[in-house]
Parts: sequence; structure tokens; C-alpha cells
Amino acid sequence: MEEGFKELISKYQGSQSLPRQFYTSETVYKMDIQHYWNHSWIWVGHINQIPNVGDFFVFDYGYESVIIARDKNDSVNAFLNVCRHRGSRVCIEKSGNTRLFVCPYHAWTYELNGSLRAAREMEENFNTAEYSLKKVNLRIFHGLIFICVADNPPNIDEGLLQLEPLVEPFEFENLKIVHSANYPVAANWKLALENYMECYHCAPAHLEYSRSHSLKDPSSANIELKNCMLKKSMDVGLSGEELHINLLESNNVEMDFYFSRYPLFQGYKTGSKSGEKLAPLLGRLKDFDGGTSDIQIGILNNFLSYSDHVIGYRFIPRSLQITDIEVIWMVREDAEEGKDYNLEDLTWLWHCTSQDDERIIALNQKGVNSNHYVPGPLSNMEWGIKAFHAGYLKQLEEKTNINS
Ligand code: FES
Ligand SMILES: [Fe+2]
Repeated sequence: MEEGFKELISKYQGSQSLPRQFYTSETVYKMDIQHYWNHSWIWVGHINQIPNVGDFFVFDYGYESVIIARDKNDSVNAFLNVCRHRGSRVCIEKSGNTRLFVCPYHAWTYELNGSLRAAREMEENFNTAEYSLKKVNLRIFHGLIFICVADNPPNIDEGLLQLEPLVEPFEFENLKIVHSANYPVAANWKLALENYMECYHCAPAHLEYSRSHSLKDPSSANIELKNCMLKKSMDVGLSGEELHINLLESNNVEMDFYFSRYPLFQGYKTGSKSGEKLAPLLGRLKDFDGGTSDIQIGILNNFLSYSDHVIGYRFIPRSLQITDIEVIWMVREDAEEGKDYNLEDLTWLWHCTSQDDERIIALNQKGVNSNHYVPGPLSNMEWGIKAFHAGYLKQLEEKTNINS
């Protein structure tokens, strides 16, 4: 198969949608999980989800499941949710607080840091120290938790260092998650991610979004709007800089990082229906600048930071043609529901927008499933997809070479 896969990669001409098999083949899906997702950093949550010793949550994708827990020393650890006895899932709950993790099969018992505490009826020379749950790489960046299950994860630190001054005024570490919604879509994860990476579809597909966000319109009027906003951005305490590092441009950083602030139309302080604020200003911002920041920390992890709330997106593969689009809303941790924000107003825009996306992505998959689909050319507004394809194919090619 890996031979066939190389042939498939070599057929790809660039600046197009991918050949059909990338969205329809079980074998490619397995390789996606094994060689792409398992070698990528994935945003799994926020530190404020696990403030106390014993707090944990589980993050699943593809065939994998990872436990993220706060141990007795107050350290946060991540480990595979795969028992070292005969491989059962150890933790069944999605989140909670516990003293120990007890495997439901034969009751091997693990500490909060993943080390094995006890196993019944084993040989006398059995050494518990050799059977900890497998550690998973973990980084916490301003409260955002990232994991990577690879033995040699890609270099995330250099990109985070460059991103640091741009995101620091928002104080992401002082956020709390106030709502998450799942929009399951009958499509391959790449179609869901590709849809997020371009705003070519925004004007025709997203009425509500297009009313307030300028990204759907690349015309020169926008450059003026953007310059005007950037002046305000700097006045309110944002840097005004942009960041764009990707595989095509740099050999030093192995991941894609992107930061750009773009303007909302006149009369909009944030992504609200009325244009008015939705929650208290984030971090050290002094006022609303009428903009929002697109932030990418590795291709799989996308955030949108308004002046008063942050939205995180994940496109989680569940099977070949089932993807969960997870949308997570965050506001500052001291904001009170009912007083400082209300959920209906806060979630209105990206709830409607995600429902639109769910519909168009499912239609995309239906068309691609046709035997008559042929890859089509990408527009200038779909440059993000080109960068994704280049990095994705490079990574799959490299990893399959290593493994063959
Ligand atoms: S598989 Fe976990 S205790 Fe047996
Ligand atoms: Fe969309």
C-alpha cells in the first residue's frame, strides 16, 4: 500500500484539491492518524479545566485516547489511556476528579501521574515501575494545553516563543471555558479543516459572519480598514505585528504558526449580533479596537481572539468520513454569567456559522465521493489550503519513508 500511496502523492499537482482517495480511502485515513495526527501537537483544553489535585479530562481522536490529569505534586501530566496489562481503556469518564485510575478490566491501579501502583496476582518478580501508562508530550502555553503522542514530537517551542509577544496582552491563562459545542459532520477531517482555512466560502455561505467580518472581502477598501484598526490595536495594547511561519518558508520551525488581526466592519466591537460587546475586555486590553485575531498554533489548532472572548476550533477525526467540529468559547475567568455575559448572545455567531459549515462540508464530501470527482484549482483566497497540503504531504511522505 505504501507504494500506492507514494504514487498517489506524486500525482498531486499542487494548488488543487486533493485526489479523491485522500478523502475516501480507509488506508489513507489510518495513515493520517498514524503519521499525521500522532506526530502533531493537538490543543486539548485549558488549564482552568483541572485546577485541583485529582482533576482530569480525557481527549480522544482517531484510535487514540489521552488522559490529562493534575497529580499530587500539582503537576499536569498527559498519558495514554491504554492499560499496560492487556490494553483496555483505563479511564471511561470524559472528565472528573479521582484519587486513582483503576482499569475496569482486571483492576490494575494507576496513580494520578500514570505510574502503576498495584496489580493483583502477578509473579513475585513483577516490577510495577516498569508498567506506567505511557507518557505523552505536553506543553502549556498561556493556559492552553497541547499534547503530542509521538516519541519525537515536532519543535513547538520556537514558534511559541515568536508568538508570545503577540498573544501575551490577551492573557489566555486567565480564561475559562464557558461553552463547548460539537457539530458532527459526515466528512473526512481534511475537508472540515480545509473549509476552516479559507474564507472564499464566507460571502456565499455565511450571511451573519459576512455582515460583521471583513475577511470575506479581500478588496483594497479592506487595506484602509485594516490600517485604521491597527492604529487602534496598538493604542489598546496589542502589538500590531503579524506572524506567518510555515514549512515552506522556514526549516527551523517544523510547525505552522500564524497570527493576524483583521478588522470588523464599522459599528462592530466584537463578533456579536448587535455590534456591542459580549463580555469584559480580555487581559490588559484598554479598549475595543474593532478587530479579531486569527491564531494558528500548528495546522490543527485554530483560535479566534476578539477583544472580549476567544473561540477555539478542533476538527477531530472519528472515522474516515465522520469528523467532530468542536467549537469552544472562552471569556475571562472572573466574568460572571448573567451579569458580564450571557451564553445565548456570546455563542450566537459561531453557532450559526458552524451550522452553515456543517452543511457545506457534508455536501463537499458527497461530491468528492462521486467516481467523477476530479481535483479542481484553488483560488487566491485559498492559500491556507495550499500550505496545509504541502505540509501534510511532506509529513506523510517522510513518515512513510521512515517506516518502510
Ligand atoms: S487490561 Fe487493564 S487490568 Fe487488565
Ligand atoms: Fe465557514
